[in-house]
Amino acid sequence: MTYQEIRDNEEISTYIRQADMSLSALGFTEHSFAHVTIVAEKAGYILQTLGYDKRLVELAKIAGYLHDIGNLVNREEHSQSGAIIAFRILDHLNFPPEEVGLIVTAIGNHDEGTGVPVSPLAAALILADKSDVRRNRVRNQDKSTFDIHDRVNYSVKKAELKINEAHTIIKLKLPVDTRYGSVMDYFEIFMQRMILCRKAAEKLGLQFKLMINEQQLI
Ligand SMILES: [Fe+2]
Ligand SMILES: [Fe+2]
Repeated sequence: MTYQEIRDNEEISTYIRQADMSLSALGFTEHSFAHVTIVAEKAGYILQTLGYDKRLVELAKIAGYLHDIGNLVNREEHSQSGAIIAFRILDHLNFPPEEVGLIVTAIGNHDEGTGVPVSPLAAALILADKSDVRRNRVRNQDKSTFDIHDRVNYSVKKAELKINEAHTIIKLKLPVDTRYGSVMDYFEIFMQRMILCRKAAEKLGLQFKLMINEQQLI
């Protein structure tokens, strides 16, 4: 079973769409197909670049695609509820138990409240998810009513996550347009996430670096 087959699965698409509708109602930024596809591809990129085996790279993409499905139940503890939903889906699709286990663990550990990078796959998922900061995740069209999440996402046209050639550093580059969000805003909501990213990078034998407007902050 491949990442592409998971993407083509109607049942899964329905749940992702419904989960995102709940977040839209709650005023959260976009968590739909654009977000989960970016996370899937970044998680795959991290493990592939570091030379992990092909199947684990595929599992990282599947975990990325399914990681926010728990928002279908509730935003609170969505990583754990998502892990259980993913378990049922993957079990029904006859994934081998070892693969189900790897994906469920990664999804259940992706959120900064309770998540810990307990495996390379969990670490890759954390880095991929926490680095998806983009202007087009903001749904609110009225700048005068932007909350801090809107401001931070709107201020970044597109984040870039890259591993260096020596495979020693993973760098998150954020071009922040300070007309819309301040670097302070960014730190207020991202501090915990960046600490989790640092731990995730360490799990993969990498050093995490954060660059905002060409300045190294971490
Ligand atoms: Fe999440
Ligand atoms: Fe996410």
